[in-house]
Amino acid sequence: MAVITFANTKGGAGKTTAVLLLATELARKGYRVTILDADPQHWITRWYEISGAVENISVINFVTTASLPQHLSENRHCTDYFIVDLPGARNPLLATAIGLSDHVLIPIQGCAMDARGGAQVLELLQYLEDKAGIRIGYSVVLTRVNSLVTTRALQTVKALLNERQVPVLDTAIIERSAFRDIFDCGGTLYGMDANRVSNLGKAQENARAFCEEMMGIVPVRLPASARNDLAENIRSAA
Ligand SMILES: Nc1ncnc2c1ncn2[C@@H]1O[C@H](COP(=O)(O)OP(=O)(O)O)[C@@H](O)[C@H]1O
Ligand SMILES: [Mg+2]
Repeated sequence: MAVITFANTKGGAGKTTAVLLLATELARKGYRVTILDADPQHWITRWYEISGAVENISVINFVTTASLPQHLSENRHCTDYFIVDLPGARNPLLATAIGLSDHVLIPIQGCAMDARGGAQVLELLQYLEDKAGIRIGYSVVLTRVNSLVTTRALQTVKALLNERQVPVLDTAIIERSAFRDIFDCGGTLYGMDANRVSNLGKAQENARAFCEEMMGIVPVRLPASARNDLAENIRSAA
């Protein structure tokens, strides 16, 4: 079991979108995912409601500083990955969620304001290590990256992160209409109509690469039932 928290004190950094991509890809691989929706805009909960049942995913809404530890302990036996979607704010929930995480992922768009929101999370991680001896893994994921051009703002942010030796995922999340539309359509990227959503294949590929990289950073053993299903699929495909 592992807890991954998405944090950036700035709203609009791409947290909720990245949460949904990671959760749906992990679930597709057979992992049981519980999303803890602490975002006051409840985008994940709305997506879940319009989606109907999504295999291997459950969503808990109205997560607070007080309720978070309880959600984790109550659901740990039926969850492989907990994914926490935080509000874009600097508040006690941020510190609580970070303190309970195995890994903190900081989505940053290539702009200075986002980078500042990310820096506040990095400061908090440093504070926890200095004052409480709690050392939590973290990385930055660049979001809403233009697939065709590298902007000057993105280059500046990359250079800044590099200078401070902040780990950055190899996979950036590209700006794709599919990643917006999924919140309107519900379900996953694999239930969308490729004739109506531009570059759907590329969006799926991007989400898969993001998930693969995260699984390498925060590995969890597949549950026995999913391993059996996987073995069965491999047998029948052979
Ligand atoms: N990779 C992406 N491609 C297209 N649109 C995106 C992408 N990431 C975020 N967005 C859009 O940007 C806005 C803010 O993203 P969101 O994930 O809600 O950020 P946060 O949770 O950090 O506030 C939303 O309208 C969302 O649809
Ligand atoms: Mg959000």
